[in-house]
Amino acid sequence: MTDQQQAEPRPEQDASARREKNLPEVIAREEAAVLRRQPESSRMAARARQALTGGVTSSWQITVPQPIWLSHGHGSKVYDVDGNEYVDLHGGYGAALAGHAHPAMVEAIRSQAGRGTHFAQPTEDAVAVAEELARRFGLPQWRFANSGTEATMEAVHLMRSITGRDLIIKVEGCYHGHHDSVQVSVTPEPGEAGPADRPAQAPASSGIPAAITRLTLVATFNDLGSVERLLAEHPGQVAGMIIEPVMMNAGIILPEPGYLARLKELLHAHSALLTFDEVKTGLTAGPGGAAGLTGVVPDIICLAKAIGGGVAVAAVGGTAEVMAHVASGEYEMVGTFSGNPLGMAAARAMLCEVATPAAYRRIDALRSRAVDGLEREIAAAGLPAHVVSAGAKGCVVFSGRPVRDYRGFLGLDDRYSHAHWLCQLGGGVFLPPWGKIEQWLISVQHDEADIDRFISNFTDFTRTVTG
Ligand SMILES: Cc1ncc(COP(=O)(O)O)c(C=O)c1O
Repeated sequence: MTDQQQAEPRPEQDASARREKNLPEVIAREEAAVLRRQPESSRMAARARQALTGGVTSSWQITVPQPIWLSHGHGSKVYDVDGNEYVDLHGGYGAALAGHAHPAMVEAIRSQAGRGTHFAQPTEDAVAVAEELARRFGLPQWRFANSGTEATMEAVHLMRSITGRDLIIKVEGCYHGHHDSVQVSVTPEPGEAGPADRPAQAPASSGIPAAITRLTLVATFNDLGSVERLLAEHPGQVAGMIIEPVMMNAGIILPEPGYLARLKELLHAHSALLTFDEVKTGLTAGPGGAAGLTGVVPDIICLAKAIGGGVAVAAVGGTAEVMAHVASGEYEMVGTFSGNPLGMAAARAMLCEVATPAAYRRIDALRSRAVDGLEREIAAAGLPAHVVSAGAKGCVVFSGRPVRDYRGFLGLDDRYSHAHWLCQLGGGVFLPPWGKIEQWLISVQHDEADIDRFISNFTDFTRTVTG
């Protein structure tokens, strides 16, 4: 190679330099456009800040440049307070699998509201829901709660109660809600994450006692060796492991073939239990969640989000041995609103009338349409990106390389996801905010036109960024 040839920039370098120049411009332009389009949202945000802490009802509703205030949703669409319509692929952080105001959900909720929403005594719907979850997820016994956080808290308590051990293992980059035991190494920054082969136990929030954080050991996704090492270093002390079987708080990271089955064997060999946190994957990865998809049935499964069809419902399922511990009263699983009639009526409608085999076939076809369309655009634009999907969920990963664990995810440039979110919003598609962490949800009410709008916005986005 001559000196002259060496000095010439390669086409990839050119393209990368162009993207570096374009990205900040796209973000600035689109953020300004959001503020222009949503004056009423701006007014709501200003008013809300006076009495609603941080101006939102949950800190993850804070978005840049401002929170999006919605007035209502119908079918596959949501509408902001300024009257803008969006194809809703946010899906309420993965809960709105039914879409919005689904006739079966409206009828079930209306009918139960007219007959009483709360007794703190069981109703027949709770049995029907438990039976259907048992059929779908392969675990025979179920109890109910109201949020994913509650469900995973019960699972951690149960693993400790049954084994009489205090330590648990969680995976770096998995989110399991906001109770103390799992608020460890959720999205640690490079400076606090520790070495890749020995992730640190990094508190995910202030307010978590160090003494509790020390009880949560941290493993690496798709790396059996990291779990083996922790079990060997703490013989007879690990109660069990909680894991998102498909990681869905780091984009989407799929388990490698055989990983989950071998994880279960490994933990059982150490008399420790395995919990799948299927709060996100639950009904969305498929009718029987990730357990159904992979054929690996753990000792405990946690569900929430989509199972209530838009109403706050969570569930904890277990093997007969695990749940005997609850039935006998050795572990008291309680809650005033657990299995409340409104939630159970909604969950029954969701499971029996909405999340049907026909609905999953329709979602599968829409997912293929989305994935094919996005991949076509990625190839045409020569963008270093790829698409990962599981059932109704999917995301664009802005990297040419596959991501197999949190460290790979950490290296992704979040500006792409934010710019993509803004461009979709401008084109009438509402993706979940929080960039590279989240993924889309296709509901039972989406159609081909919705997916085509999503792909067309993506095409505009790639052309603007790479142009
Ligand atoms: C995998 C997972 N588990 C648990 C939770 C907590 O659920 P909730 O927000 O209903 O408490 C979430 C929330 O996003 C989640 O993604």
